[in-house]
Amino acid sequence: MKKLLLLFCFLSLQLSAQTITQDSVYLFSYCSLKNDGKIGLQLAWSIDKNTWNSIGSDFGVLGSDYGTWGAQKRMLSPFLWLGADGLWHCVFSVNEKDNALAHASSVDLIAWGRQSYPVFSGSQNCLLPEFKYDAKTQQYLISWLSKVGDKTEVFITSTKDFRSYGKEQKALASTRLNLRTEVKLGDKTETGLVYKVPSAVVNKLLKHLDTEKERQKLYRENLYEDTVKLANLKPLSAQVTVDFQKRKPISSTLMGIFFEDLNYAADGGLYAELIQNRDFEYKLSEKGGNDKSWTATKAWQTTGQAKLTIDSIRPIHYNNSHFAVLTTTQKGDALVAEGYEGIALKAGEAYYLSLFAKNMTGKNSKLSIQLKDASGKVFAVGVVNVKGTIWQKYEISLLVKESTANAELSIVPETAGQYAFDMISLFPKNTFKGRRNGLRADIAQALADLHPRFVRFPGGCVAHGNGLDNIYRWKNTIGKLEERKPMFNLWGYHQSMGIGYGEYFQFCEDIGAQPLPVIAAGVCCQNSSVGGAGQQGGIPMEQMDSYIQDILDLIEWANGDLTTKWGKVRAANGHIKPYNLKYIGIGNEDLITDLFEERFRMIFKAIKAKYPEIIVIGTVGPWSEGTDYVEGWKLANEIAIPMVDEHYYQSPGWFINNQDYYDNYDRSKSKVYLGEYAAHIGGRANNLHTSLVEALHLNSLERNGDVVSMSSYAPLLAKEGHTQWKPDLIFFNNTEVKTTVDYEVQKLYGVHAGESYIASQVELSDMDSYLQKRVSVSVVEDSKTKDLIIKLVNILPTSVDTKLNLKEFDYLPEALKITLTGKLKDTKVLPVESKQSVGSSFYTNLPAHSLTVIRLQRKK
Ligand code: AHR
Repeated sequence: MKKLLLLFCFLSLQLSAQTITQDSVYLFSYCSLKNDGKIGLQLAWSIDKNTWNSIGSDFGVLGSDYGTWGAQKRMLSPFLWLGADGLWHCVFSVNEKDNALAHASSVDLIAWGRQSYPVFSGSQNCLLPEFKYDAKTQQYLISWLSKVGDKTEVFITSTKDFRSYGKEQKALASTRLNLRTEVKLGDKTETGLVYKVPSAVVNKLLKHLDTEKERQKLYRENLYEDTVKLANLKPLSAQVTVDFQKRKPISSTLMGIFFEDLNYAADGGLYAELIQNRDFEYKLSEKGGNDKSWTATKAWQTTGQAKLTIDSIRPIHYNNSHFAVLTTTQKGDALVAEGYEGIALKAGEAYYLSLFAKNMTGKNSKLSIQLKDASGKVFAVGVVNVKGTIWQKYEISLLVKESTANAELSIVPETAGQYAFDMISLFPKNTFKGRRNGLRADIAQALADLHPRFVRFPGGCVAHGNGLDNIYRWKNTIGKLEERKPMFNLWGYHQSMGIGYGEYFQFCEDIGAQPLPVIAAGVCCQNSSVGGAGQQGGIPMEQMDSYIQDILDLIEWANGDLTTKWGKVRAANGHIKPYNLKYIGIGNEDLITDLFEERFRMIFKAIKAKYPEIIVIGTVGPWSEGTDYVEGWKLANEIAIPMVDEHYYQSPGWFINNQDYYDNYDRSKSKVYLGEYAAHIGGRANNLHTSLVEALHLNSLERNGDVVSMSSYAPLLAKEGHTQWKPDLIFFNNTEVKTTVDYEVQKLYGVHAGESYIASQVELSDMDSYLQKRVSVSVVEDSKTKDLIIKLVNILPTSVDTKLNLKEFDYLPEALKITLTGKLKDTKVLPVESKQSVGSSFYTNLPAHSLTVIRLQRKK
């Protein structure tokens, strides 16, 4: 996602157009070690090999995609050479340790193809790679150094296509070409390769840089600066013309939500469970060993002389292998759960306490269950009778008398002894729609209020995981809670899987949204850190059949009747009727590599063959352009993937200047699901500024609703104090839900959606294009009510008095007007409703920095 961004960040502002008139020049390729090799492949040119000119300063034309963000994505000692196929091939080391090389090729040094990372198991590491073409055998011979301590060995391999490689062999030092040379660039000396190229090659690069410079200038535009730039702007006027003759059907599923367990969105968030680490399965490794308290006893304490240990002999289920053993020697000592930094309780409400327990000393014993705060104030009490030495589930209901934000749960054995506990759970009875094992009512309601037409889950990166073992497997998340398989969450915490596929599908049904599960495309996240430097691993081919079967089983589980194996499982899990699953996402912004493509094709083919009615959503990488976007779309076009998932987090300037992004998309090709997007501004704030440029984009999504079928802002939820990614749509703590102004925009578009787009145009009194692109209109019709919905966005720092001309008018004279406006930095802005007189033409005022929705009701 951030690759191009990084490259562009390094782009010098001092680039300037120049054209080299000589026929040929020298080109120097290198990678400076500044920034740990993360700038990538850099270029310079010279007429005479003495005076060198950098092509951009700190500008990389190719960045490494290898390994995890932060420590990796490095390029060392690139070897760039023009191949026999007319392509520039770049082979580079990915770091000092791994026995992998990297390769990418380009026709013009600007657009680069897929990267690949062949691994050479016989070599310790792969340093200073170089290659030459052997015309006789028509293959490239690649050599590199493998260095450990003082020992250096030369290795060599061959390839015809940089896709498959011969087994590496040890070679003599004399096979090395040693073409690298030093060049003085300004006050620095860099090591790389020099070649003579036609000047056209460098001229194209220089022109490309100038274009980039212009683009980046546009993308830096923002409304804060506008308030200075346009300080003297007087109020403007505009004419909006609506042409009812020009209409087209648009997607009825345009507005949806993206749920990922990030920022404590699930456990401690949407999932109503109040007991943290109820399964005693937290592991140090989930926080990389950095938090010493993150163990199986996290969020649990004892009082008095009681001792808590963790055991794993004869657990309730092998998927849940650890449990707590409490040893007490005196009455009154307790096991205490702190919850998620406190347990919030509401007066007058009932709570279900459940636990698995056995009395290891063999006697029956009573447990006093107490909800109280640190001062000892009791909010509810109950009793559980633990009988015998075999695991049994106990459940009681507790009525809470007074509200508190900060209770704890105490389990107090009445008899001293040794007790085993697991799956200690406390749920409010009042979950969303009253579901058992349900969702927190207030958060779920905030989601329902967005009126989402679909819910994507379980991620995001959580779907494809950090390493192959972390790929999200739906079968581990259904059925009895104690039998589900908890897992490390790649955002650095624990997933209890209490919200699993059953809960996600149920929530969709409860809010009338389509479920959109996203399954890994047989590869883990390219930013994985697991396994050395990590990287996009592929499920071994011999396991792919069973992986694909799991995906087919998911469709059967969702849609199969009771005669099917998985339909029966669904019914046994409490949902007899099929869920009517229509969509399935395969892949999440993956690097489009050969590894990915091979697996994606297999999965796609299998789904198409067995379930042709299912709409498969492919993926086109983490960015709005660049290698993965191009390669992803190529694949989509080639195999006719019905829809592809695009992701982009962009600056306000990008949104302002890309309102035509989808206007020229080919309507005969795959449809688009804009699965993740948000405006990112300095400080990663959610404020009126970000929300208004998102509204601008939503107007263009509606206009392109014939090709953009779905969209979802990302991420959705963030718990205060545990926010790993900003901005987010909704923040919350244990007692409150705090929606953002971006949420209000999403809600307005969700509630006031339409299924028919009616052509409209806005003409500003000032023809300056800088101003014109800052006012936008979208007109849709709600196919059920036939209401006409006009959305007007004004991101100018002045008001726009707008005349609307409706060529056809069959509406009630009084319409609903909703205005969202305020100061750009306002984080909380609520829409204000008023009445608007309407006719075949009417005036409305668009305040500075505003979104206005006018809903005209059709005459009966
Ligand atoms: O939305 C947060 C993350 O952004 C998602 O997990 C991932 O898909 C993207 O990079």
